[in-house]
Amino acid sequence: MFVGTPNWWGTMAPPVRTWVTNNKAALKGKVVCLFQTNGGGGMQRVGSDFAELLPESKVLPAGAFSGSRIKSSVKELEKFVDERVVVKQTEEAK
Ligand SMILES: Cc1cc2nc3c(=O)[nH]c(=O)nc-3n(C[C@H](O)[C@H](O)[C@H](O)COP(=O)(O)O)c2cc1C
Repeated sequence: MFVGTPNWWGTMAPPVRTWVTNNKAALKGKVVCLFQTNGGGGMQRVGSDFAELLPESKVLPAGAFSGSRIKSSVKELEKFVDERVVVKQTEEAK
C-alpha cells in the first residue's frame, strides 16, 4: 500500500499520522510505502517517522517530491513506483 502526506513541520501531517497509528494492526506484515510532497525541505523526518510507527510492517524506501513541481514530475513519480512495484503475471493471464 502507498500512503501519501504533505511534509508539515518536517514530519507527516497530523491526520496522516493518526490514520497510520489507527491502522497499525491492519498494516502489520504488509508492504507499505510512503510518498510525500514538500515545500523545499525534502524528506526531513517524514520517512523515518513513518517507519518508526510501523515496526511490524515491511516499509519500503519513501519518496519525497516538490509540491509545486508535482505536475511536471510524472517521470520521477513513474520511476519511484516502478522501483517499488513488481507486477506478476498470473497463470490465467499467460
Ligand atoms: C503547516 C505547514 C507546515 C509545513 N512544513 C513544511 C516543512 O517543514 N518542510 C517543507 O519542506 N515544507 C513544509 N510545508 C509545505 C508543504 O509540504 C507543501 O505545501 C505541500 O507539500 C504541498 O505543496 P505545494 O503547497 O507547493 O503544492 C508546510 C506546509 C504547511 C501548510
